[in-house]
Amino acid sequence: MEQKWTKLWLAYPERMRQENLEIVTKIHASESCQGDRLAVSAVRELTAGITAMGGKLPEVIYETVCEQCGQTGEGIYLVLAENANIGAEGYRLNGTGRSAVIVAKDTRGLLYGAFALLRHMSMGETVCEPSETVVPVMPLRMLNHWDNMDGSIERGYSGQSFFFVQNEIVINDRTGDYIRYMASVGINGIVINNVNVRGRANELITAELLPKLQTLSCMMQDYGIRLFLSVNFAAPIRIGGLESADPLDPAAIGWWKSKIDEIYRFVPELGGFLIKADSEGNHGPYAYGRDHAQGANMLADLLREHGGIVIWRCFVYNAGQDWRDKKTDRAKAAYEHFVKLDGQFRENVILQVKNGPMDFQIREPISPLFGAMKKTNLMLEVQVAQEYTGHQIDLCYLIPLYKEVLDFQTYADGEATVEEVVSGAKYGNRLCGMAAVTNTGDDENWTGHDLAAANTYGYGRLCMDPSLSAETIAREWIRQTIGHDAEVERVILDMLLRSREIYENYTCPLGIGWMVTPATHYGPSVNGYEYDHWGTYHRADHLGIGVDRTSAGTGYTMQYNEPNASMYEHRETCPEELLLFFHRVLYTEKLKSGKTLIQHIYDTHFLGVEQVKEMIAAWKTIADKVPERMNENVSERLDRQLYIAREWCDQVNSFFWRISGIPDEQGRTLY
Ligand code: GCU
Repeated sequence: MEQKWTKLWLAYPERMRQENLEIVTKIHASESCQGDRLAVSAVRELTAGITAMGGKLPEVIYETVCEQCGQTGEGIYLVLAENANIGAEGYRLNGTGRSAVIVAKDTRGLLYGAFALLRHMSMGETVCEPSETVVPVMPLRMLNHWDNMDGSIERGYSGQSFFFVQNEIVINDRTGDYIRYMASVGINGIVINNVNVRGRANELITAELLPKLQTLSCMMQDYGIRLFLSVNFAAPIRIGGLESADPLDPAAIGWWKSKIDEIYRFVPELGGFLIKADSEGNHGPYAYGRDHAQGANMLADLLREHGGIVIWRCFVYNAGQDWRDKKTDRAKAAYEHFVKLDGQFRENVILQVKNGPMDFQIREPISPLFGAMKKTNLMLEVQVAQEYTGHQIDLCYLIPLYKEVLDFQTYADGEATVEEVVSGAKYGNRLCGMAAVTNTGDDENWTGHDLAAANTYGYGRLCMDPSLSAETIAREWIRQTIGHDAEVERVILDMLLRSREIYENYTCPLGIGWMVTPATHYGPSVNGYEYDHWGTYHRADHLGIGVDRTSAGTGYTMQYNEPNASMYEHRETCPEELLLFFHRVLYTEKLKSGKTLIQHIYDTHFLGVEQVKEMIAAWKTIADKVPERMNENVSERLDRQLYIAREWCDQVNSFFWRISGIPDEQGRTLY
């Protein structure tokens, strides 16, 4: 049967360099690799990749090998050296002329080293070239699927779930490939179901479904990935028949204890639970007058003996806000709920914090929680799924955004970037890292838009090594996925690197966010969220726009450490791209460019549309150099992007013209 899904960046087209062909005929692996599931996967991947790229099926020899063997011998060496001076999960890869030597102190490191060597070969390098030592920077490198058991995906833009069909768990060849692809970029934890645990998903932790989860968990373990589940805090009520899920109620605790024991009997390697509690209507400890720490700790205590952890989300706010109320501020909520609990969470609890204080807008400040919770394990949550950033119809390469977040200086205890906090470098903890709401589904190309897979790829690479630039990651992805044509690479690289700015240009200006169509979150609706109860207001009137979040306004700026608090507090020092997030500004006020705010809005929106046209023109110049299926997909997406960019531009600009009465200096058409 013909495979109905693409191979993403592991396509391995036949393009092995001549000098590699001579070297890759033998794989020498440490004897101790034999029978180790991860080492076996490393050998399997090398064998398959080399064969696909044009080599012959390599001979695999298990023998005593050391790093030096590669100096004299020929072939690929997989050296498992427990005393090697390399961090856990890391590898050292050296090309020595006639050989490529991968050394690691654990077999997960060998697997990552094997994928790294394949990456270099697939990018057109010789096996003698690579020389790198890589130790994954983020301890946890997780994907969160928002897949529902009926097969739908919350905020999914790439078809249906490939984990669940009609309320059943699906395990097939596609599952196996998916696991391989994710392992190849270093993912080591996957939550397979939506944080909003509804309907049949409540039963994932019952004896009926656990055996299948065990099969899935085993497949993931072969590739160094731990399975995690989203669970419902109300499970004792939903499936346990109890009346209360109070975390201090002995009956509820007893129920969880036997449930967790049962889960681990079936799935001994389960990583633990991801929980969204007291958030957007999900049940949680507040129902019983308890706090988040009491809720999370109860589960953590029970999971600990099985080696499991609790990942507790910090996406909480009062969703019943009155738009007339200008003091309550959704942006402040997570900090207000959690900072007072710092130090109260168990060691096996991690708080998972979204990158910004609102909800994955195209531009937001960084969540102040990263600089405030010094005695708690923190994990950074980003969204690879393009919920507010174009639904994988519009092109939006998100790696630059993630890098901005990681580089942000929180000034926690002196100095600490977000990267230092969530990688454990600052406080020396190991339960931390990154999680991404992922963008895959059962579409043939996995990600709806072919180029959106650069975000999936890039997210994993960034977790492994945040020092990689957005450009390097994009180049790697292009070369492996599409090929080595320099012109193709130049054009696609340029499109990817400009795409976030372009999207921002034609959508919401200067950090204000929320001008999307309510519920779907695609396309413009300037006032769609303005009189709603979600705490999402731009507050535009005939004179100006923006939310005053200074100490004179909602006081949100005060949640940052100095000097950030003062930087955001003052109009002159507030980064301009976030101006309207923090300040109310008159349309006639001048920006740093010398333009008035209103003219900036008009200009950026018209520019954004022109930039989409430029991308379309650029794509046409390479259209016949990329695979036909990809060209059809990307061309179709770009046309839809142009349509929606025009809608954004004309609706946003016309709104501001009508409300302000100020004409465009350039006299372009407003409606
Ligand atoms: C957003 C999104 C929801 C999701 C929620 C979350 O609000 O629109 O669909 O459930 O984030 O992160 O939990």
